Amino acid sequence: MKKGVFFPLEPKERNKAIQSYIQSRFAAESKHIQFARENSQSHGIKNIHVPSHIGKLLYILTKIHKPKKILEIGTLSGYSALWMAEGLPIDGKIISLELKPENATLAKEHIKIAGFENQIEIRVGNAPILLQEMIANSEGPFDLIFIDADKENYPKYLELAILLSKPGTLILSDNLIPKSGDVSNPSPLDRVACSLHEFNTHLSEHPRLESILSTTIVGEKTRIDALGISIVK
Ligand code: SAH
Ligand code: DHB
Ligand code: MG
Repeated sequence: MKKGVFFPLEPKERNKAIQSYIQSRFAAESKHIQFARENSQSHGIKNIHVPSHIGKLLYILTKIHKPKKILEIGTLSGYSALWMAEGLPIDGKIISLELKPENATLAKEHIKIAGFENQIEIRVGNAPILLQEMIANSEGPFDLIFIDADKENYPKYLELAILLSKPGTLILSDNLIPKSGDVSNPSPLDRVACSLHEFNTHLSEHPRLESILSTTIVGEKTRIDALGISIVK
């Protein structure tokens, strides 16, 4: 039998080959998305944006769901927002929240170059406070909410996201498997694993949610992570 490219490889190398197989065939970046990624790198932005295959998944889910209003928690330099924007209906809007002004400035630059300045609004500040303000000002409900900021606040983000939702809202949550630590039974000292344990428990048991964690290979080390996909009842 003819051996494929994946088979002679050790598991880690095989995962890398599978990841690049998928990314090279299914997750080609538009020139503006590519520019945003490369320009962020040259500005010394930490490489923590979603991988291209998750960007493509966000794009596909946006195209299927046709949201008029998207809320993103955690902009960084706009990479994931641009993937969603490319799948957005022409009358769709994205509000994206970012703590660091320097990230927001770079994101705005990338959004302008890509021609989405009328569709993506960046708000600078601490997301729990910005979200409370949005609730107080009745800025919801959103059709799609993407949670991708500080993991310690994930349980709070879920609670606030549900308050900004309606039946049918799609809630997507990045990085639900922590890099280290046991999410199924976390050490009380591991704050990230504890938050994600609590978050995943709510995602699974919340009476207003139907959810799945979709596993994915991410990063140079090809570790397993998961994207949460939830629909609000
Ligand atoms: N969604 C982005 C990546 C986000 S990385 C992408 O895939 O392209 C996480 C971001 O959340 C960082 O930019 C970080 O500054 C921001 N962040 C962290 N804590 C925050 C908070 N409390 N409020 C708002 N943003 C926060
Ligand atoms: C990291 C990765 C992420 O996807 C994120 O949203 C935040 C942090 C990280 O690797 O540190
Ligand atoms: Mg992330």
